[in-house]
Amino acid sequence: MHLSDLLFIAPPSSPLSPPWLDALLDWLHRLLGWDQRSWGQRLLIGAPLTALGLLLLPRLADLLPALGLLLARLLESASRVARLMLALLRELFWVDPARRAARHARWPGQDEGEPALGGQLLMAVVDLLLLPFDWLASLGPQRLLRPDPGCEEKQQRRRSEAAPLLPRLRWALGRHLRIDLLLSFLRLLQPRWWLPGFFWRSKVVRPDSYAPEFPIRRVLWLTHADDVREVLSRPENFEVVYGPRMRLVTQPIEPLVDPSEDPSENGNFLLGMQDTPRYWRDISTMRLAFRREDAGRCGALAERAAITAVDQALQPSLNRPVPEGSPRLRRIDLPVDLVMPVAEALVNDYFGIPVPLVCPGPDNGRDAPGPASGEVDHRHLWLEGLFNYIFYDLPGERSLEPCRRDAPRVRAALQAIIRRRRDQIKAGVAPEADDVLSRCLRLQTAGTPGMDDETLRVNLTGFLVGAMTPLINATCQVVDVLLENPRLLARAQAAARGQAAVRDRGAAGKGAATDEKEHQGQLLACVMEALRLWPGDPVIYRWTGADTVIGAGSRRCAIPRQTLVMAWNASAMFDPALLSAPWQLRTDRPPGAYMHWGHGQHSCAGAYINMAVIPAMLAPLLRQHRLQRAPGAAGQPRKDGPDGITIRHFELLVRPADNGSGSLNADSGSPDFSYEQN
Ligand code: HEM
Repeated sequence: MHLSDLLFIAPPSSPLSPPWLDALLDWLHRLLGWDQRSWGQRLLIGAPLTALGLLLLPRLADLLPALGLLLARLLESASRVARLMLALLRELFWVDPARRAARHARWPGQDEGEPALGGQLLMAVVDLLLLPFDWLASLGPQRLLRPDPGCEEKQQRRRSEAAPLLPRLRWALGRHLRIDLLLSFLRLLQPRWWLPGFFWRSKVVRPDSYAPEFPIRRVLWLTHADDVREVLSRPENFEVVYGPRMRLVTQPIEPLVDPSEDPSENGNFLLGMQDTPRYWRDISTMRLAFRREDAGRCGALAERAAITAVDQALQPSLNRPVPEGSPRLRRIDLPVDLVMPVAEALVNDYFGIPVPLVCPGPDNGRDAPGPASGEVDHRHLWLEGLFNYIFYDLPGERSLEPCRRDAPRVRAALQAIIRRRRDQIKAGVAPEADDVLSRCLRLQTAGTPGMDDETLRVNLTGFLVGAMTPLINATCQVVDVLLENPRLLARAQAAARGQAAVRDRGAAGKGAATDEKEHQGQLLACVMEALRLWPGDPVIYRWTGADTVIGAGSRRCAIPRQTLVMAWNASAMFDPALLSAPWQLRTDRPPGAYMHWGHGQHSCAGAYINMAVIPAMLAPLLRQHRLQRAPGAAGQPRKDGPDGITIRHFELLVRPADNGSGSLNADSGSPDFSYEQN
């Protein structure tokens, strides 16, 4: 049967139709029992089928890509399940290498150097024979029999041993059974989800969470990239809800200087403001202080601080437990030893805000009781508490009290810092210092609107709170993902080492600069891709003040007023509509494939700083010979502290490179802008 037979337009055996179409029609012919049917019956079946075909023909251009996307989404979900299975199998059949290493260390004649070939062969045979026993021991049954020592010294020793199977399975599950897996299936099945009332009312967000300004009647989850982008790029319909909480945190200490200012925006920060002239004024003036061209300088600053931090952490003299069987490996607690010091250096030297914050004395604001004088926020818990209240804790109940306690401390500390710095400038202390605070004070002197002490304090609070916690978490998350994906780790290490090699060669001129930029770009690409697997900020939420619609013209969805719209940027970054082969780890993706920093009006004001600082802070660590997790729970990123939202411990084993941690060429760093703060 030929196409021509069906369409009755050409004699049988016409060579008009391609062979595959003929085969398809033959199959249809048999399926419909064409030979047994009369002409009338043929017409009755054939005509609607042909009409359907003709109707679908113009839609083919839409249908084929939609089918392609569906297939890609299916593959993405399947690859997640496959990775989960592989991870579980890997844990199940994992054999602790320390057992073999300890056996080799006890082997007779080890002290006399490398054993002869015969000895090595014998060792290999013994290893093979003992493999089942090593495996059984690696499952950790001895832990079940051994009572918990409950004493610190033994606890310390236990931390350096490999964990038994159950916790390892739990960590593997924790790494794969995250919200991403659920989002992957939601994306595939139904990209828009209305959360059932009982769920969001009790668990996610109460209707009065942001009341009275933002009453919430329902919650909508969006998982497709085009929906997420649309919501974030329509601030007139999808409003930010952070304003009331921002104001509680930053509430004014002093009355507004300019009486013409809108009092409703008093104490509000950028991320709490709608698409108003006040927003655009404040973001413009803050961008005069936080400049995009500072990215290189921030990167150099971060790298310098990281080199010092890594060198100190890897000092053999430090009294750290050295893992058994690997005397040359050193232990480093990533957030404590590297990330926190670098973040502090950035805030001290670039922001011009000395941290840890010190509360100068009783607050003259409304909160009671006032903070005690001289309190120091050594672990940045005040900032974490405010971040938790404004951005993390949707119901806002748990975090409200800590926020009420800590906000006055932060307010008083920042107010004192601003005043002190202004006094210093007046007294001629580093008047030309090029940090953000000094720039802002110079703008204030020049009479720039929005640079009065109050507005400046509010804006600096927002920048400080928005910078510290996410920067610490994102950096630790990048390392966790790199360790989980050895090929990506190898690429990042190669880029970091390549960058150092170009500097060490000391080559001058355009070629060397281009080479270094290329390595820098590669390292950044690895960081961006790693963050895609575990984003710093996986969901961004907005609120509708009036009924509206998204996807008009394609997949339309009406959104009633008072809906909390949760735009999952973590999901959008796995949507094949936004980037090709999302299940692959690739370092050649265009910048538009990522939504780590949000999108549209409120996209992250620190994006360029982050993209310079995170790779630069990790480069000295990545240049070391070896990098691996510490065994046991210590090697897993752990959120700690009263709010439990900052990764505070994550121990790694590092074998230091012979030439130290990779030095920064003296000429390549930008000048040090820091000055004496006190
Ligand atoms: C890696 C760490 C960071 C991540 C993942 C991150 C992520 C984000 C995201 C997703 C938004 C948009 C929120 C929304 O639309 O609701 C945002 C906004 C913002 N971020 Fe970041 N951020 C990070 C670090 C920083 C740093 C270091 C700074 C300061 C230098 C900063 C300053 C800001 C500010 C000021 C906004 C609000 C911008 C506006 O409203 O116009 N962030 N950030």
